[in-house]
Amino acid sequence: MNAATTTETRTPVLSAKRLVKTYGHVVGLDGVSLDLYAGEVLAIIGDNGAGKTTLIKCLTGAEIPDGGELLLDGKPVHFRRPQDARDAGIETVYQSLAVSPALDVASNMYLGRELRRPGFLGSALRMLDTKAMRRNAREELTRLGISTLQDVTVPIENLSGGQRQAVAVARAAAFGSKVVVLDEPTAALGVREGNQVLELIKRLRDTGVPVILISHNMPHVFEVADRIHIQRLGKRAGTITPQSHTMGEAVAIMTGAQTL
Ligand SMILES: Nc1ncnc2c1ncn2[C@@H]1O[C@H](COP(=O)(O)OP(=O)(O)OP(=O)(O)O)[C@@H](O)[C@H]1O
Ligand SMILES: [Mg+2]
Repeated sequence: MNAATTTETRTPVLSAKRLVKTYGHVVGLDGVSLDLYAGEVLAIIGDNGAGKTTLIKCLTGAEIPDGGELLLDGKPVHFRRPQDARDAGIETVYQSLAVSPALDVASNMYLGRELRRPGFLGSALRMLDTKAMRRNAREELTRLGISTLQDVTVPIENLSGGQRQAVAVARAAAFGSKVVVLDEPTAALGVREGNQVLELIKRLRDTGVPVILISHNMPHVFEVADRIHIQRLGKRAGTITPQSHTMGEAVAIMTGAQTL
């Protein structure tokens, strides 16, 4: 999509205005604003400690900002915890991947939102509907084109790093009806596995769900991002596109060697 020509007329799905977050004397975020539109991948880049994770934590209820505003579909929201954001349709894969290694693929996809058996068995005895969860998990993986992972009864600990990451992203994709946020989803992945996650991000975007992607991998960012938000020292140094700037220029803005 051409973000540059369409951004002015549409309401952002998610909008952050002048977010501030301090940790004691450390300034994590210093008045950062961000708009996310339907059907786009917005990358967030920046050096270590630039405030990328803090920013998405403030967007997803994992941190409560000290100042600023958050709007979802143009309406103010106040997330007090991650569950509030999830309830609003914002799914996040945090930098520290939250999967349970001993559980199988389907159970991990339904972690924290397990399906219960219909009727008395589910409501009174709290029995899990394992069959339904496995069937839905399989359908979701197929929908996202994850072909290497058809056996959803395999424990996560037996999967490769890329497959694990794919499960985490698939979980976010399955439940993120409004926004999917990914913090370093391709870090520590091989070339093939990293590319699979990138394909997944593109497919997700093509279904209309906007994606926020944090990554240090410039080729990945330039391959999938529609727009690139550059964080530097707790502030937004600027927002560029892969068409408006080169990778070298992006890195220069990131490090302060060049200003926008
Ligand atoms: N819980 C915390 N307590 C104290 N300081 C924190 C905390 N979380 C983050 N910070 C500080 O806030 C700043 C921004 O950190 P943040 O994790 O957002 O960086 P980042 O851009 O995600 O870096 P990286 O690329 O290394 O993941 C850093 O100076 C960091 O040390
Ligand atoms: Mg981080």
